[in-house]
Amino acid sequence: MDAKIIELFKKNPDAYLSGEDISHKLGVSRAAIWKHIEKLREIGYDIEATPHLGYILKSTPDKMIPDEIRYGLNTKIFGKSIYSFESTDSTNKVAYDLAREGAKEGVVVLAEEQRKGKGRLGRRWVSPPGGIYMSCIIRPDMRPNEIEEFTLVAALSIANSIMELTGLEAEIKWPNDICINGKKVCGILTEMKAESDRIDFIILGMGINVNISERSIPPLATSLKKELKKQISRVELVKRLLLNLEKEYNTFKKKGFGEVRDKIKDLSQTLGKRVKVTSCDKVYEGEAVDIDHEGALILRLDTGIMQRILSGDVVLMR
Ligand code: BTN
Repeated sequence: MDAKIIELFKKNPDAYLSGEDISHKLGVSRAAIWKHIEKLREIGYDIEATPHLGYILKSTPDKMIPDEIRYGLNTKIFGKSIYSFESTDSTNKVAYDLAREGAKEGVVVLAEEQRKGKGRLGRRWVSPPGGIYMSCIIRPDMRPNEIEEFTLVAALSIANSIMELTGLEAEIKWPNDICINGKKVCGILTEMKAESDRIDFIILGMGINVNISERSIPPLATSLKKELKKQISRVELVKRLLLNLEKEYNTFKKKGFGEVRDKIKDLSQTLGKRVKVTSCDKVYEGEAVDIDHEGALILRLDTGIMQRILSGDVVLMR
């Protein structure tokens, strides 16, 4: 009912709707409508009431409300089902448990904050209010060794979404960070359950520093708000992320990694730079020259040897 009331307001922007109108259209009593309006106000909807005119929706809250995200969302898979939490330990963990119980591809888990946000390599992901903490369930018909390609496809969709919405230039730091002006604004954590030759499911987790306070921004990182000098709508960004993710994922599924590889290379912050990469306890230093057909980073070491690295932690050298 809450969603239906909000939909009515959105279909009649800047118009007053009387309690009687709403109750007539939705087939419930005026008293019930009043109760719903009170509840919506508590969630953060600014609904003004004026005698003789009725109710008007002044603004919607920028909160991870499933109905807000689904409103006008033009996807077929991603976001058809959305779970949203004020606070949870880790959206990746919630999504993993849901997937293990059989949840479908495209299910999305969101939280306003995480108490135990997980980063790559066992690190912690600080997750204060104002960020986007989102995990998606993917059930691709893929081999486990294709997960690196998938992660890069996700990175491309995130970078494009940020650029489209903010106009900022986002870059992909191989394998799975998104940076703006050289500073990290988003991290991706892909986890999977797989048999030896088949992926059962992937949990694609992304943490984006959107409107988090300056003091919560980790060193060497930034936020969209800091770069843009104004807040941006997290709801709009989540919608765009789901749309772009579905688009790039479909291309990747139908046409393979080759079809998206050039776009990823174009946005790469890593290529052409001197880097130090830690991979499986080994450290390599050299020039990043390519991202190959399987998403691996190709380094030209000082010896001239070409080193292929499938996953690792990259530090850009000056
Ligand atoms: C990184 O280390 O760069 C990856 C960070 C990934 C953080 C996101 S936030 C949503 C999802 N839930 C988690 O616990 N982690 C990922």
